[in-house]
Amino acid sequence: MSGKHTIGIDLGGTNIKAGILDDGGELIYRCSIETQAEHGFEHVFCRLVELVDNCINAADLAKTDIAAIGYGTPGPMSHEEGIVYASPNLPGWENIPLRARFSAATGLPVTLDNDANVAAYGEFIAGAGKGTRDMVMLTLGTGIGGGIILNGRLHRGAFDNAAEIGHTIAVANGRPCPCGQRGCLERYGSANAVAERFVEALEAGEDSPLKASVEAGETLTAVDVERAAQAGDALAVRIWDETCLYLALACIDIQHTLNPECVVLGGGLIGAGDQLLKPVRGHFQQQSWQLAKDHPRIELATLGNDAGIIGAAALARSESESRA
Ligand code: BGC
Repeated sequence: MSGKHTIGIDLGGTNIKAGILDDGGELIYRCSIETQAEHGFEHVFCRLVELVDNCINAADLAKTDIAAIGYGTPGPMSHEEGIVYASPNLPGWENIPLRARFSAATGLPVTLDNDANVAAYGEFIAGAGKGTRDMVMLTLGTGIGGGIILNGRLHRGAFDNAAEIGHTIAVANGRPCPCGQRGCLERYGSANAVAERFVEALEAGEDSPLKASVEAGETLTAVDVERAAQAGDALAVRIWDETCLYLALACIDIQHTLNPECVVLGGGLIGAGDQLLKPVRGHFQQQSWQLAKDHPRIELATLGNDAGIIGAAALARSESESRA
């Protein structure tokens, strides 16, 4: 291993976050740029490569100071071969040999993993899951990602794609998902789904004080729906509460499947804080069995936007140390 520092990158549907960790695991530099996913893969790839150079320069380092890049990216992949098969929320990402391309373009070793896996690993080593042995994370953003830590290790499964919890089926024959299935959890519990379901309800004839702005072409976000719910808009209250219920039911499924100590909720939707956590915990409490005392704690992530960067860099560091 040459350099002492590691770069962590977290690619999301909206932003690319990057940071540099020193050899003590401390985040010494971070930045974020827009993903601009609508321009397709090659455009986003150029932004990723540029971002690496910009980070190194801005942190006053040289490429020789960097041991490896850890990169978290959405969608099913082969961790072994470094190929991203597809990204449900990123147009034009299909069968991309990303690790080889990224490594050739930057001249640095690259470790490729799922975006939610790296966030889960970050929360496990330095955030809300610190001190646990078994934890699960759900990232609630453009889609829903999942990451599973079992026995202190990231669990990738036999085919590298364990923890695609956003694509577990919440509703039989439900809302279509860009992944090709119907009724995926992320079509009900993600930040995007909150806004979409609210607009669909308006289109189906329900009423809300936000109706006029939607009809005037304004794009609603989950934050708008959450604020409307807080202000007492009955439709927003219903959509928000249903969202929390779907998430609580997902936590029950996780409890019965993996029995972790903790389920950590992360991603943009947790900006709602207690407005999200309290009803999710409440529905969980009401709906889950009382047959055993094995309820996982449900917590909000504590590392915010840094979870993916920290987790990706830490995974890259341990892979490059094991290669050395
Ligand atoms: C993808 C996951 C990803 C999640 C969050 C889902 O649609 O399938 O791999 O972790 O979105 O980005």
